[in-house]
Amino acid sequence: MNGVMSKKINRRRLLAWSGLSLFFYPIFKFIRFTVPRKPTRIAVASEIPVTGFLQEKKFILFDRKGKTWALSRKCTHLGCKVSYFEEGDFLECPCHQSKFNAETGAVIQGPAKLPLTLYHVDKGSGNTRYVVTI
Ligand code: FES
Repeated sequence: MNGVMSKKINRRRLLAWSGLSLFFYPIFKFIRFTVPRKPTRIAVASEIPVTGFLQEKKFILFDRKGKTWALSRKCTHLGCKVSYFEEGDFLECPCHQSKFNAETGAVIQGPAKLPLTLYHVDKGSGNTRYVVTI
């Protein structure tokens, strides 16, 4: 009898959680709620070339004019991978040609509306030249 009761309760709980999830999911999606994730520190061993930038998989690292910063390569429109264009000193997305300022990540040209994420960069020690916190 007890086993049957606990199964009923578990089914009820499962149904309740499923119902709540189905109810809240579109609301969270609409307000762009995301669970904050723990920052990741990425060590960069390479020296930045004389061009002043280093293109990595997830970010582009800049070190010029005595300033160091990194910008995310994930386009804020639909998530394609942006690249740096030295001639114009901007970052461009290959998918819909959004352009971003190379120093701030601000949008120069849409369709993207939000700036690229700016990451904190620390100077490393030993074999590590830089540490980028993403
Ligand atoms: S995904 Fe980058 S502009 Fe559309």
